[in-house]
Amino acid sequence: MTQSTPRPRVFVSRRIPDEGLRPILEACDATVWPDELPPPRDELLRAVAGCDGILTLLTDRVDAELLDRAGPQLKVISNYAVGFDNIDVPEATRRGIPVGNTPGVLTETTADFAFALVMAAARRIAEGDRYVRADRWQTWGPLLLLGVDVHGATLGIVGFGRIGQALARRARGFDMTVLYHDVAPLPAEVTEPLGATWVELDELFERSDFISLHVNLTPETRHLVNAERLRRMKSTGIIVNTSRGPVVDQAALYLALRDGVIGGAALDVTDPEPMRASDPLLSLENCLVVPHIASASRATRAKMAEMAAANLLAGLRGERLPTCVNPEAYGPDGR
Ligand code: DGY
Repeated sequence: MTQSTPRPRVFVSRRIPDEGLRPILEACDATVWPDELPPPRDELLRAVAGCDGILTLLTDRVDAELLDRAGPQLKVISNYAVGFDNIDVPEATRRGIPVGNTPGVLTETTADFAFALVMAAARRIAEGDRYVRADRWQTWGPLLLLGVDVHGATLGIVGFGRIGQALARRARGFDMTVLYHDVAPLPAEVTEPLGATWVELDELFERSDFISLHVNLTPETRHLVNAERLRRMKSTGIIVNTSRGPVVDQAALYLALRDGVIGGAALDVTDPEPMRASDPLLSLENCLVVPHIASASRATRAKMAEMAAANLLAGLRGERLPTCVNPEAYGPDGR
């Protein structure tokens, strides 16, 4: 009689597209959280106990408590997102657990969406839709819902990684002047084809008509957009956030929008998420808010699922993750 090796135990914290779920179900003894809402903390802690691998979403906090509850056999954490601020990566590294994410596949889709938000906020598209639905449309009006031009305007990109650069490519097609800020200027072979100029952050806030945020959430970038920076912006300036909600101080943003310090905002991400309908920002016509959907195209979410599954399965086999955020977890000899 042959004795089969037990399949690895994994927890998948939400249903992900079949492209990723199928290979996981084929190879593992998997529990998939069935609800549309994330597992409550106590359920999550219960579900990860004894698992060899976990596939998490940005709505799941992975910290020392969770890692303790999972147990010392945990081999891999695969996050279904490019961002990983929901995970205590140093803690995972200390325990030698590799963490995977899904970079690259969502770059173009997210940049499309950031540009869509620039356009929508500039030309007041959501407001126009609300106006029609409220049956307020009486006639063509010379002064009706006037916005600002996108073509020829100055776009400031904060964080010039993959998505920031993809946004700059789109801006070129609209003859925009592109300024960017990152910790240091990037090599000319990257920035010259994009026509992008590095400037200090304050200068970017002062000169831009549109500012789009593309930084990771870290202690340094939390509230990077605060009252002082908002005051530097043009009174017609528009801020777009597809990064993480806490990069913007929302209380300061509310006052700046209400008092006409800046012209508008378009937010795909908020602090906290979800934003409730009673949030003061939603009482303002010049603030557009959507529910963290910048990467939400069918094709991209499927590719993210494939990638997250590939990371999970590689980790379970003891192989290097195809996309690992903490290669240091493998130790100095690479194991
Ligand atoms: C990410 O991947 O970090 C996005 O916020 C969701 O796709």
